[in-house]
Amino acid sequence: MNIAIDGPAGAGKSTIAKKTAEALGSIYVDTGAMYRAMAMHMINEKVDISDQAAVERACVSADITIRHIDGAQHVFLNGGDVTPGLRAEEVGNAASTVSKYGAVRERLVELQRALAAEEDVVMDGRDIGTVVLPDADLKIFLTARPYVRALRRAKELCGGEVPPEEMVSGIEEEIRKRDEQDMTREISPLVRADDAVPVDSSDLSIEEVTEKILSLAAERRGD
Ligand code: DC
Repeated sequence: MNIAIDGPAGAGKSTIAKKTAEALGSIYVDTGAMYRAMAMHMINEKVDISDQAAVERACVSADITIRHIDGAQHVFLNGGDVTPGLRAEEVGNAASTVSKYGAVRERLVELQRALAAEEDVVMDGRDIGTVVLPDADLKIFLTARPYVRALRRAKELCGGEVPPEEMVSGIEEEIRKRDEQDMTREISPLVRADDAVPVDSSDLSIEEVTEKILSLAAERRGD
């Protein structure tokens, strides 16, 4: 059974997808991490990411592989484990830019489909239900209000403490910019697949969202 979870930055996709995969004994595949690794490659190689031709040339020399170690996804870039550095804000913003380019998407979509062909996966991203796995058994479109998404991210950065209001509004501004870029790009924009179930996580706990997805999955399997 393959489950696709799409949605904007900070909606809780990775937390929810990880928990869903654990409960089902499936493999969790974080496709955003692959775009982040590609962005990191461009940063390492000092490629100007606003130059599409330069990024498309450089993406050929990025060897990105995924390994699951003790159930956790690790991303390797040209042989080195780059997982710990991928969550930086700078890398996320650069990933949003390089993910607009066709050659980057082609390489990574191929890798994502190969993973889903081998295992039962819970895969999260922006185009999983629309492009990568159009025949997924269950598709979820997970959203939350921009302020809530910014607050969650700010709390994470402050180690769970209440963050200062200026910090939240700064992150909210970044999130809105990233949504705009992800939703308006020409290739595979962030859009809800017609057959995806919309879930707004703003006023729900992680457990409530996971339960909802697990019960939809059970329904689809005919349990
Ligand atoms: O989910 P994330 O924040 O780790 O994703 C980083 C960026 O990668 C996001 O802004 C857009 C891009 N992305 C994409 O275009 N398609 C995906 N399937 C996943 C991520």
